[in-house]
Amino acid sequence: MTRWGRQTLVEERAIRPAARGCADPVALRLPDGTELGVRSATGDDLPGVADLHERCSARSRNRRYHGGSARFAPARLRRLLEPARGVTLLANPTGFSPLAAPVVAMANLLGEGDTAEAALLVRDDWQRRGLGSALLRRLVWQAEQRGYAALDLHIQAENRPMMRTVGRLARPSAVNRDGSLVTLTVPLTAALPRIGAGHPLGLSAPTR
Ligand SMILES: CC(C)(COP(=O)(O)OP(=O)(O)OC[C@H]1O[C@@H](n2cnc3c(N)ncnc32)[C@H](O)[C@@H]1OP(=O)(O)O)[C@@H](O)C(=O)NCCC(=O)NCCS
Repeated sequence: MTRWGRQTLVEERAIRPAARGCADPVALRLPDGTELGVRSATGDDLPGVADLHERCSARSRNRRYHGGSARFAPARLRRLLEPARGVTLLANPTGFSPLAAPVVAMANLLGEGDTAEAALLVRDDWQRRGLGSALLRRLVWQAEQRGYAALDLHIQAENRPMMRTVGRLARPSAVNRDGSLVTLTVPLTAALPRIGAGHPLGLSAPTR
């Protein structure tokens, strides 16, 4: 197996079907054997996600929020947890009781028109183990399921880890630079036909 193949080997299996509008919960096994559950966030995850932000370095928060690395107002975190359009995934290591399992990573998908935006935050002591790559692949899959045409990632130009994480998708991306911010646009292959206002059967758009 190549180095590339070894590093991207992350096992994933469905745990149980998701509720409508949520992502299917899945179990992940990282290349080092660590197992985690990945599921949709709910409002009840506020303390766990606040703890994730507390335990991240200022540099990680800065890279995630492009400068807004100060303390997070609960209202802002709550909006991230239950986005009106999109999905937020949280990763919890297994082996904890449900209430005690820490949130070690968060992945956000926010939709706008035909495009979705993705962003990741992996706790510093969980970085470089394949988790960010696995979550980004999950977000790409979620975006395709929801029928988006492209995925935008706004990344600080110096953020080499995130550039490499996107590179591991091995999909051609358009690159746009605006000062210190780079936007990578990953084209998606929609897995489901989009149903919108203009649908010939007049069906309403599904909740994304
Ligand atoms: C970017 C981030 C999500 C990557 O998560 P991760 O779990 O460390 O990613 P992986 O372990 O899957 O590694 C993915 C790639 O990044 C590289 N990488 C990860 N951390 C790195 C570091 N500190 N320095 C250099 N490369 C790094 C890995 O080596 C791998 O690349 P490779 O296959 O070419 O070797 C994580 O570093 C993070 O949360 N950073 C802070 C927030 C952030 O930058 N968010 C992005 C905003 S869009």
